[in-house]
Amino acid sequence: DAPTIGVDIGGTKVSAGVVAHDGTILDRARQVTPHRSTAPSVVEDAIVAVIAELMQRRPDGEAPVAGVGIGAAGFVSADGSTVVFAPHLSWRDEPLRASVSERVRLPIIVENDANAALWAEHRLGAARSTSHAVMITLGTGIGGGLLVDGSLIRGRYGIAGEFGHMQVVPAGLRCECGNRGCWEQYSSGNALVREARSLVTAQSPMASDLLARVGGDPAQLTGPMITGAAKAGEPTSVELLAEIGTWLGVGMANLAAAFDPEVFVVGGGVSAAGDLLLDPAREAFARHLTGRGYRPQADLVVAELGADAGMIGAALLARDGAAAQPGAG
Ligand code: BGC
Ligand code: NA
Ligand code: ZN
Repeated sequence: DAPTIGVDIGGTKVSAGVVAHDGTILDRARQVTPHRSTAPSVVEDAIVAVIAELMQRRPDGEAPVAGVGIGAAGFVSADGSTVVFAPHLSWRDEPLRASVSERVRLPIIVENDANAALWAEHRLGAARSTSHAVMITLGTGIGGGLLVDGSLIRGRYGIAGEFGHMQVVPAGLRCECGNRGCWEQYSSGNALVREARSLVTAQSPMASDLLARVGGDPAQLTGPMITGAAKAGEPTSVELLAEIGTWLGVGMANLAAAFDPEVFVVGGGVSAAGDLLLDPAREAFARHLTGRGYRPQADLVVAELGADAGMIGAALLARDGAAAQPGAG
């Protein structure tokens, strides 16, 4: 049973792995995502590099890799050929599948990163026992995925599930998508770091512990650092995560009104904060849920596959794609 390669392209890193049919990761490779201002070809170089690295390390005599799935942090066209727009990357109408296929001699499929994560969680993780789930990934932005009656919902043009760009604050903060008040401006890794940096820059007495952790340089602050501080009981970091969590719960209540899922699965880097994030989210969710007390309330759980969900999901989708090729299987 040939493995497939999954590649997850987020706002900060490109992570790839060779994935067996049961979701086991056999090998991994990783690169830093080139900045949003660099040419699309530079991001493609990083993708090709991680694939090449994994292919070179394949042990002799093992089954060859059957295909590659790319989970991309952007709006992927319904036919899977093109990233039409990516708020955090340089892709605009980028024919990603063709440009990578030219350089890698393997069948390629492209899927939105959060859709891929949902697929992995549905097949192997926290959404495996349900047919109605909403995936939310909190990283650079907010990624969304929607499972209805056991199917991944992609919409007419491939772009369903862009929950991060629902407006939650009229005339709110400007988003990388160009609009204002988008949910991901209030509940994401970027939002967490932005808020912490503002406190540090303002020399708020609340931020003295964080300031000391970065040796006085706000630019050194990262999401994992804030999560680490919160886990160690640092009160400002706990509060910052609670704010992100509260916004998470508000958005989830809106999504419950629209889709009525059985479970919300929260993944992405910020989900490593666990209940420091999820408890405030659960509270806000219950408070904002329409028909509360009359309806079953969806569960809120952390992604079981953690930060690997997108990569594993992309690999599983590539496997399905390879099986669908004429002549395969
Ligand atoms: C993008 C999505 C992506 C998400 C997470 C959002 O800003 O619009 O396409 O899934 O970030 O990476
Ligand atoms: Na999506
Ligand atoms: Zn937006």
